[in-house]
Amino acid sequence: MFNFFRKKPAGRPELFFHTDIHCHLIPGIDDGQRDADGGADLVAHEKEWGIERIIATPHVTQDTFENTPSSIQPAFDKLQDTVRQRGINIELLHSAEYRLDAFFAAQLEKGLVNPMPNNYLLVENSFIQEAWNLDKMLFDLKMRGYKPILAHPERYVYYFPKKERYRQLHDAGTLFQVNMLSLAGNYGKEVKQMAEHLIDSDMVDFVGTDMHNHKHCAILEQYLDSKDYRRHAAKLSGRVFNDSAF
Ligand SMILES: [Fe+2]
Repeated sequence: MFNFFRKKPAGRPELFFHTDIHCHLIPGIDDGQRDADGGADLVAHEKEWGIERIIATPHVTQDTFENTPSSIQPAFDKLQDTVRQRGINIELLHSAEYRLDAFFAAQLEKGLVNPMPNNYLLVENSFIQEAWNLDKMLFDLKMRGYKPILAHPERYVYYFPKKERYRQLHDAGTLFQVNMLSLAGNYGKEVKQMAEHLIDSDMVDFVGTDMHNHKHCAILEQYLDSKDYRRHAAKLSGRVFNDSAF
């Protein structure tokens, strides 16, 4: 649909999805945006790319970012107010990116886990090693009615020598979300190649930006103008659930 207000540079293709399910734009509660103006700037960029709905996912991580609904909600409200004041017409929601650790297990028991619509839940491993009880945690989440989405599987380098683990996790019903920043090469060649391997193996269920800051935003815009983006979009378009899941 033609949109007078979209400032899309001539030649930049329309994004192939319109819901970002992974980003760190809520101000002051993790390693993403520090203030609401910065968050709103990045929301405005996403809007220009064709994003119509953002599910903000601040980190919930033991020791470093022990966020709960009482820290997330007021910070989200600040972002929402700033976005509205600036007249950016976009739907903003919030959930979180939950590290599968003891803090998460405790939050789960206390009923303080806030899923995405339709009970999708963005979860992550540590970058050092797989969560020791990963299979049990994922199984328990499914038994409780959640639909776990594993964030950026392509970034867990300890899986690289045993790629069959990806198939095992995916076949067990865990959904995979690949980062656009990985496809853009932001974390290096090997991570990009693994993201492409997951695409070619038909294991990419969602794409997310995982955008934290203006530097990420610039990298993503460069990527959106690249041949790589067109190649990836041709493979992923119509195959991810970003828009249909919620
Ligand atoms: Fe993230």
